[in-house]
Amino acid sequence: MDIGIDLGSSRTRVFVDKKGKILDEASVAAYSVAENRIIAVGDEAYAMLGKTPDSIQAEFPLQGGVIAQSMLAEDMVNILLRHVCTSKIVMPRVVASIPGDITEVEKRAVVNAISSFGVRRVFLIENTKVAAMGAGRDIMGPHGTMVANLGAGTSNAAVLSLGGLSVNKTIKLGGNDMDEDIVKYIRKKYSLIIGNPMAEKCKIAVGCLTKPAQEKTFRVKGRDAISGLPRFVDVNSSEIMDVIMETAMQIVMLIKDVLEGAPPELVGDVYSDGIILTGGLAKIEGFPELISENVEIKVEIAPEPEDCVIEGCGKAINYIAEVERNAKMKNDINPLMAAY
Ligand SMILES: Nc1ncnc2c1ncn2[C@@H]1O[C@H](COP(=O)(O)OP(=O)(O)OP(=O)(O)O)[C@@H](O)[C@H]1O
Ligand SMILES: [Mg+2]
Repeated sequence: MDIGIDLGSSRTRVFVDKKGKILDEASVAAYSVAENRIIAVGDEAYAMLGKTPDSIQAEFPLQGGVIAQSMLAEDMVNILLRHVCTSKIVMPRVVASIPGDITEVEKRAVVNAISSFGVRRVFLIENTKVAAMGAGRDIMGPHGTMVANLGAGTSNAAVLSLGGLSVNKTIKLGGNDMDEDIVKYIRKKYSLIIGNPMAEKCKIAVGCLTKPAQEKTFRVKGRDAISGLPRFVDVNSSEIMDVIMETAMQIVMLIKDVLEGAPPELVGDVYSDGIILTGGLAKIEGFPELISENVEIKVEIAPEPEDCVIEGCGKAINYIAEVERNAKMKNDINPLMAAY
């Protein structure tokens, strides 16, 4: 049995060979402070965010695409994997996606969190690589492919060819930062205190990055900063566009940087094929148009962009099995990073 894991800042997804994606839950763990015991993980723990009594804490163990709280991450991964891998006898091999430029210590934290479940081997692979594979691009040939994987805590952009990354850059900035921008704006402009989950709902409902064809409104509910009483305000698309634009432009700059750093022959390929967007944040209205306007290259969103990384992990699993079966492939280009 082989498993793929996309351990994301906001969501954890699991792929099992021959079955496909079988788990997609919030990367949240809730624990009892006094007993130091996990109470809930995944979507169940997400529902507790901002609503817990003092005795319970609900937190995201990953921040900016890397593990910030190792014990909590370990417990969360363990419990989520137990949901999908019920047999105790099978020690699975695991392919896990990671941001492009993380440190050895951060890689080790991912390996440890997964190994605690009892696995045979862990293979790490950069998420831009799996995202391109999941989006259906052939990354093994000499043709250049450019992908930008835009998530909650990180944005990664890369130009790939021959199974490797020609240029790869990561910034710890993504959808979560836009949520923060909205929280701060609502507080400042309307003296209304809201939590990040409400800001995320607002971003998904009315967030956009080019002038909206049709203004939408969203009712933001929170607590009045002065009276402390519940209150709401209605915000619209144009207003939220201005609030999240600065963060979006930093992501556009990342994409520009990667293009500028790529060898001219590969840029030629990217120019004719366009840039492919993956990750949940790619779904925000107008992102392809904003990027395209600034880099003057066509940009398209992969179908179901949030699943490209995990689907690519699935393809990488098949690749391991194929190499095993076919001795001749042992000397071929291997897109997987060192195994642990
Ligand atoms: N329809 C949508 N419109 C706008 N934003 C969206 C939409 N759907 C998801 N998002 C945002 O996409 C982000 C989640 O994307 P994704 O699942 O790729 O992140 P992740 O893999 O958990 O994070 P990371 O890769 O950064 O560690 C969240 O910020 C979420 O609010
Ligand atoms: Mg991700």
